[in-house]
Amino acid sequence: MLLFADSPPLHDMVKGVSWLLGKWRSEEGKGYYPTIQSFTYGEEVEFTHVGQPNLQFSFYSWRAADKNPLHRELGFVRVKPNSNQVALIIAANIGVCEVEEGTYTDNHMQLESHTVGGLTFRKPPAVKKVRRTFTRNGDKLVQVLDMETENTPMTEHLRITYTKI
Ligand code: HEM
Repeated sequence: MLLFADSPPLHDMVKGVSWLLGKWRSEEGKGYYPTIQSFTYGEEVEFTHVGQPNLQFSFYSWRAADKNPLHRELGFVRVKPNSNQVALIIAANIGVCEVEEGTYTDNHMQLESHTVGGLTFRKPPAVKKVRRTFTRNGDKLVQVLDMETENTPMTEHLRITYTKI
């Protein structure tokens, strides 16, 4: 069933973050945290739109060593009208959901969670806060993610440079 026109025009409200659109991939993300062993991961990311005032995205990662799936998340990007304010609404497979807000330019956005929810039966430690930056440079997109848990202050967890595919 066709739910919307093919290739609808991008909504004006999300034109400021259109530099995110498309499919991105890396085989060489780096994961760290004081409480875990460092790891290398791959990830494929896609930002799409259906003509509504939001972008939607999927982030699917795998462990580089054996290609087994790791973290996965789905969400939406929204922009506050007539402003440089941007928000991510995210649901992750590890039982965490987040709302992050921040600011954007024509090649960068930085966000911090103001709301983090978690399943009552999720594996500890609880996530307290998450910060992300995204920077576009030509056909590269860099994401850096820091997080705070109930045991560890704000520390880098992920750093990855995707290439547009
Ligand atoms: C590409 C994305 C991600 C990958 C590949 C990844 C991978 C990992 C891995 C391999 C571990 C170690 C697990 C273990 O040894 O049990 C871990 C731990 C963890 N991750 Fe991630 N992660 C990602 C994103 C995230 C995000 C977005 C959050 C929070 C919103 C998060 C929260 C955590 C927490 C809380 C831990 C446990 C840390 C601790 O034990 O102190 N991860 N992650």
